[in-house]
Amino acid sequence: MWKILVVDDDPSVLELTEIMLKNLKLLDQGIEILSTDTTEAAKQAMKDNTDIALIILDIVMETTESGFEFIDYVRNTLENNTARIIVRTGESFKGWSPSKVAKHYGIHDYLEKMDLTKERFVTVITCALRYYQHILERMRFEEMMVQTEKMKSVAGLAAGVAHEINNPLNITLQSIQNILQRTSAEMPRNQEVAHECHAELDQICAYLEKQKVFTLLGYAKEATQRTASIVANMLQFSQHSDAEKEPVDLVELVNRAIELAGMDYNLKKQYHFCDIQIIREFDDNVPQVRCILTEIQQVLLNLLNNAAQAMYSATDANSLQNNTPQIILRIQQEDERVRLEVEDNGEGMDEITCKRAFEPFFTTKQKGSGTGLGLSVSYFIITANHQGAMTLESTPGQGTKFIIHLPL
Ligand SMILES: Nc1ncnc2c1ncn2[C@@H]1O[C@H](COP(=O)(O)OP(=O)(O)OP(=O)(O)O)[C@@H](O)[C@H]1O
Ligand SMILES: [Mg+2]
Repeated sequence: MWKILVVDDDPSVLELTEIMLKNLKLLDQGIEILSTDTTEAAKQAMKDNTDIALIILDIVMETTESGFEFIDYVRNTLENNTARIIVRTGESFKGWSPSKVAKHYGIHDYLEKMDLTKERFVTVITCALRYYQHILERMRFEEMMVQTEKMKSVAGLAAGVAHEINNPLNITLQSIQNILQRTSAEMPRNQEVAHECHAELDQICAYLEKQKVFTLLGYAKEATQRTASIVANMLQFSQHSDAEKEPVDLVELVNRAIELAGMDYNLKKQYHFCDIQIIREFDDNVPQVRCILTEIQQVLLNLLNNAAQAMYSATDANSLQNNTPQIILRIQQEDERVRLEVEDNGEGMDEITCKRAFEPFFTTKQKGSGTGLGLSVSYFIITANHQGAMTLESTPGQGTKFIIHLPL
C-alpha cells in the first residue's frame, strides 16, 4: 500500500482528492490516503507514519506560508528526505514562478489547482511514487553495502586473531592432555618416576583427587576445547577451502543433515529436535550441484540448529503460531541455480536482528551459549567459497526463512 498524505484546509478539495485516488492501483499497489486540514495535524501524521510515500500539499492554509513551513519541518526537523512532496496550490506563492519555488524547496512537483485534470494528477503521482520506490531501493542497497563491508572487515579481523590464538591454544590443550597422561596410574612410566622420587603414584593421585585437581583440569580442558571450536570457526573466514568441489545430490545432503541434527546431543536434549515436524518440499529431478559437501552440510546444520533454538524460545514464550514446531526444507531449480530454503515457525527476528544476523559475533543468545558465528560462517561459505547468495526473511513471532542460491 502506498501511503499518501493530503494536506489542504479546504474540505471539498480533500474529499475530491479521496474520490479521485480511491480504489486506484498505482505501480501494482493500492493507496491508503491520510487527510488532514491543518499544518499541526499534518506534522503529527508525518511523525506517526515514517512510511508516507507522498505528500500532496496546499500552501496557503493558516498563513500564506503554512505549506512551506511544513516542508521545512519534514525535510529539516524530521530529516525525512524520502517522502515525495507535490505542492498543489491555488494562489502563486509570494508571486514566485513555479520553477523558482521548485528551486528553493525540496519538492517533487508544483501543480496549479486551476489546470489540474485527473489524468495529469494521476500521472504526476505515479511518477512521484516511482521515484520514491527508487529512493527506497537505493537506500536499501547502500545499507546492504555498508553491512557487507562491515562484515568483511570484522571477518578479516576475526581470521587474523584466530591465527594468533591458534598456537598458544594448541600448547594449552596439549599441556592439559600431558598433565592428565602423566598423572594416570595406568602408565607404567608414571609409577617408575614416582618411585624415583620416593613416592607412591596412588597416593599422589589420591591427593590430586581430594584437592579436585582433576576436576579443575577437566574444566580447563572443556573451556579450551570450546575456545578451539570458536577459533576453528573464525579460521573459516580466511581459508579458501582446499577441498575440491564435487557434484553433490542436494536432496541426499539435506536428508543427511537432518539425520545428523537428530543425533546432535544438544539438539536432542535441549531443543527436542525429535518433536519438530520436518517437512520436505523437494522438486523432482533437481540436478547435482558442484560444491564442497562438508561445508554445505555445516551450513545446513547451523541453520537447523538456529531453527530449533528459535522454536524452543518460541514455545517457551508461548508465541508459537500453531503450536507444532516445524521446519520446512525446500529445494528447487531456478534457471542456472538451485534454490534451497530452510523455514521455521519459531520466534522470528526483529528488524535489527535481521540486519545484523550475518555479522560475525552477533548473537542474541545468552552469554556462553552462542558465539554468533554460525550464520556469518555459513554466509561466508555460500558467498565466498561457492559464489552463491544467502538472504533471510523474518517476521517476529511468526518465523524465519533462509534462502540460499547455489550456482549449478
Ligand atoms: N531461525 C532463526 N530464528 C530466529 N532468530 C534467528 C534464527 N537464526 C538466527 N537467528 C538470530 O541470529 C543470531 C545470529 O545467529 P548465529 O547462528 O550467527 O549465532 P548464534 O546462533 O547466536 O550462535 P552460534 O551459532 O555461534 O552458536 C542469533 O543469535 C539469533 O538472534
Ligand atoms: Mg547459530
